Amino acid sequence: MVRNILIAGMIASGLTLGPRLAAAAGEVEVLHWWTSGGEAAALNVLKDDLESKSVTWQDMPVAGGGGTEAMTALRARVTAGNAPTAVQMLGFDILDWAKEGALGNLNAVAAEEGWDDVIPTALQGFGKHDGNWISAPVNVHSTNWVWINKAALDAAGGKAPESWDELVAVLDRMQENGITPLGHGGQAWQEATIFDAVVLSLGTDFYKMSMIDLDPEALGSETMKEAFDRMAKLRSYVDDNFSGRDWNLASAMVIEGTAGMQMMGDWAKGEFLNAGKTPGEDFVCIRFPGTQGAVTFNSDQFAMFAVGDDRIPAQHLMASAIMAPKFQSAFNVVKGSVPARTDISDADFDDCGKKGMKDLAEANVNGTLFGSMAHGHAAPAGVKNALYDVVTAHFNGAYDSSTAVEELVNAVEGAM
Ligand code: BGC
Repeated sequence: MVRNILIAGMIASGLTLGPRLAAAAGEVEVLHWWTSGGEAAALNVLKDDLESKSVTWQDMPVAGGGGTEAMTALRARVTAGNAPTAVQMLGFDILDWAKEGALGNLNAVAAEEGWDDVIPTALQGFGKHDGNWISAPVNVHSTNWVWINKAALDAAGGKAPESWDELVAVLDRMQENGITPLGHGGQAWQEATIFDAVVLSLGTDFYKMSMIDLDPEALGSETMKEAFDRMAKLRSYVDDNFSGRDWNLASAMVIEGTAGMQMMGDWAKGEFLNAGKTPGEDFVCIRFPGTQGAVTFNSDQFAMFAVGDDRIPAQHLMASAIMAPKFQSAFNVVKGSVPARTDISDADFDDCGKKGMKDLAEANVNGTLFGSMAHGHAAPAGVKNALYDVVTAHFNGAYDSSTAVEELVNAVEGAM
């Protein structure tokens, strides 16, 4: 119906479209959790791109960083027999929906555009199921970043920390200087995001063994106790009002200088840019001290659901638009992430974006690129949620570090 009106409207307005575009014009309903200022700015790049191709965007935003709430809303929609056209999704969630047989098939678009040759292998592992393309990756984010207010860093000695001890020293100085050293929002996924980096800072093998292989020995080790001790130390630098605070409000504290730094994925950069801030001048981006050379990644992909034939042309056009090289650059420059293709120039990216692209490529070659636990690329949702529960309970003081280690082992065992 909408499509017919659209096409009729275009004919009436004298637009002469090629048969492929005319056939593809239609509507996509898109479920996503990009509701912060920076996220919305990036989403607009995608909306505008599709609208320029005569595809109407039906927005279904579900607020909640990390996407937990969005995934609950999605389940309800699919159960009601009314799946959206495309859904922002992370890692193992995509594969879970594919296993349920709920997703469509993008092989024709992927073959025509050579996706196999340009999408990084690590992303293909989540974009394909049983050899079939099921989703279109829009970006690569990573979680082991720290975003520091430049003036606050200068006041704390001016040197970006490179080790855990240097990090603690800078946080102490910020405390002495009367600001909240660590801007943080008390939500389980945000604590898990810091945990990604803290575990990685204790060794790439340790991250892999504990978060990806879920090895009970690594999960129950002294090194894991050290990880929890570090989490407790970081907790001591957070203000009293952190509970429930959204991540972008914690970014705002750093942007305004009431907090010194935030440990968050590079979507945080989107907030700094949206506030008119410049890397190197207003803020500094570093890898979490001790994780230089390694990357915990997550990739937002648009999982394409099995929809009626009338909705497939617009769905395929959306997949194709997402993978277009120009779009990958334009979108990721705004979002804070890096392209999901290996053949994109870094010319339009700021220094943090250039570093992100370089770090990703190097980690890929060096075997130090790992899926983020916090953002669904290390283990399926059941295990991820079990880990979240323990990490957040410990951060909120319910467990000491030794108890947290025991609970972690039990939680993972129970979730498998
Ligand atoms: C997504 C990002 C998003 C962030 C906060 C992450 O899981 O990958 O795109 O900006 O959550 O909402």
